[in-house]
Amino acid sequence: HRAWPGLIEAYRDRLAVGGDWTPVTLQEGATPLIPAEYLSELTGCEVYLKVEGLNPTGSFKDRGMTMAVTDAVARGQRAVLCASTGNTSASAAAYAAKAGITCAVLIPAGKIAMGKLAQSVIYGAKIIQVNGNFDDCLELARKATAEFPQIALVNSVNPARIEGQKTAAFEVCDVLGRAPDVHALPVGNAGNITAYWRGYSEYFSDGITASKPRMLGVQAAGAAPLVKGEPVKNPETIATAIRIGAPASWEGAMTARNESGGQFRAATDDEILDAYRLLASREGVFVEPASAASVAGLLAAHAEGWVEAGSTVVCTVTGNGLKDPDTALHGIPEVEAIPVDPVSVARALGLAE
Ligand code: F0G
Repeated sequence: HRAWPGLIEAYRDRLAVGGDWTPVTLQEGATPLIPAEYLSELTGCEVYLKVEGLNPTGSFKDRGMTMAVTDAVARGQRAVLCASTGNTSASAAAYAAKAGITCAVLIPAGKIAMGKLAQSVIYGAKIIQVNGNFDDCLELARKATAEFPQIALVNSVNPARIEGQKTAAFEVCDVLGRAPDVHALPVGNAGNITAYWRGYSEYFSDGITASKPRMLGVQAAGAAPLVKGEPVKNPETIATAIRIGAPASWEGAMTARNESGGQFRAATDDEILDAYRLLASREGVFVEPASAASVAGLLAAHAEGWVEAGSTVVCTVTGNGLKDPDTALHGIPEVEAIPVDPVSVARALGLAE
């Protein structure tokens, strides 16, 4: 038995890394592909969940960040900067801590989940709240790093990020022994759909897989520029992770859809929250709201007949539910505590008068 070395070592020959680079790793990757039995029954498909919330900082961003921070260190950079709706910042902060370099994050004031903020704080990042949304933060991060090139920009506009994230597609194929027929995932800044498509395309052109999936990119209805075909000025959704109006990887997302015969679709906040509760209560997988967009989109696409019975479907669930306890607890009525007494337990369960 040999410990998992992290994804750079595991897929080194497929990644753009220098031979002399020392990976900055927290043993990210190798996340579970869990059979989703309830969803499979509901759709007549073979549905799997790629559970990215089980990465070291609780989201898929760690795949890109091990690469981006390794790359920055190899180039002699001593500081990283990103704009974030919360997960990128948590990941950047952790990998910077591991590398012993400085991390600064630009976040939209008041619009990120509590757990994500807690992560950036405790990993020791310099947190800068911005009176603006993610798109404003990203523009600011781009300008700041252009002016101060000693600071590495670690958003997904950094090509190392996409490289790292494509490994999730490799893992799916490695475990299934083939490519799925459909791959559904939430889309915000569109780096991840770009990365998955690259991963699937590389395995296919190298003859490791015989097919590629149709890509199903799901946005929140209030933040669905790729569905609308134009940027959204004031994006709004309960799924704050994907509250993005002007995706940086627009072209990569379009390529993924067009080449795969896929589609973009929008899920309303209610559909997202229904899928969020379904995943936890039926599949035992607690994700953050944005992650549930993949499942909301799958169910809608299936209802329209876009996903045939018998298909193999993978839904990426991108982030851990623990990052956003407020949404889980929202609207839960307060209940009175019981005395220390078995009959009271029975009463609370409706088993005694
Ligand atoms: N799901 C979660 C949980 C995310 O945090 C993000 C993006 C996405 C999906 C969408 O991925 O941007 O590659 O299309 N979060 C970024 C951040 C924007 O700052 O953490 P994408």
